[in-house]
Amino acid sequence: MAENIIKTEGLRYVYSEGTPYEHVALDNVNIEIEKGSFVGLIGHTGSGKSTLIQHLNGLLKPTAGKIFIGGEDLWANPKDIRKFRFKVGLVFQYPEHQLFEETVYKDIAFGPKNMGLSENDINRSVREAAKLTGLTEEYLEKSPFELSGGEKRRVAIAGVLAMKPEVLILDEPTAVLDPKGREFILSEIKNYHETTGATVILVSHSMEDVARFASHVLIMNHSKVAMFGETREVFKRVDELCEIGLEVPQISRVFAKLREKGYEVPESVLTVDEAKEAMLKLLKKGGEADA
Ligand SMILES: Nc1ncnc2c1ncn2[C@@H]1O[C@H](COP(=O)(O)OP(=O)(O)OP(=O)(O)O)[C@@H](O)[C@H]1O
Ligand SMILES: [Mg+2]
Repeated sequence: MAENIIKTEGLRYVYSEGTPYEHVALDNVNIEIEKGSFVGLIGHTGSGKSTLIQHLNGLLKPTAGKIFIGGEDLWANPKDIRKFRFKVGLVFQYPEHQLFEETVYKDIAFGPKNMGLSENDINRSVREAAKLTGLTEEYLEKSPFELSGGEKRRVAIAGVLAMKPEVLILDEPTAVLDPKGREFILSEIKNYHETTGATVILVSHSMEDVARFASHVLIMNHSKVAMFGETREVFKRVDELCEIGLEVPQISRVFAKLREKGYEVPESVLTVDEAKEAMLKLLKKGGEADA
């Protein structure tokens, strides 16, 4: 069995416990994430996605339950939390609010500096991370406050990448970006995943993006895990997803319909490329429905 990089046991989190605003945001969450996997995290607004990922680098402390990173109990010794912050890099849902230094350079350098890297190493990490997120040299001396929303987001992502985390978690990183910026950032995340072997957790509202990039899908619903498994397996469960009110990728839906009608197409089609292949096969056969 593959090694787990993240494991949660009976994880529970209650906001404002004991007040009229009490809210159970995580309820008995048990997950095991394989090292090197790419997890797409999906769920309606308020389902607990951001609450869950903030537990994975120790930003929130569980009300009950445990979290293990690389087999180590995250809260065994609260003094060690810093170590996990460097291991598990988290780009917040609204990362713009995380920027506070005078220059973009200093902002990206913040993490590596805290890790105690040498000036040379910091410099190299900052420049590499800036490049990865499409920020050219001229940005480095600008103030983060002069930047557009999309540019600020790139700086925030670069700041986390500069720490070269073993686990990279991004909470809807493409939300304020234009389509070109989205594609660029997604392909850089994919590239980081492939070249470093890091584990990635991507919170996204886009089924299409998850289908394209994720090896596994984790679905949260009303503070609980509704489904967790390989992407192809999860997206086969069209009816259950429908019940939760989530849609499978459009292309998967079209092919599920074709199968219903008796066409010999694969049980699960996730991307346009796969669809093309399936259609060509079908056409070669003459496109006859069985039923
Ligand atoms: N600081 C807080 N105090 C009280 N309740 C909170 C707080 N933060 C979040 N909640 C509540 O906890 C629940 C889960 O919130 P969370 O932010 O984890 O959801 P989410 O799945 O990330 O949603 P979204 O897709 O909108 O980002 C929601 O009902 C939310 O209102
Ligand atoms: Mg959220």
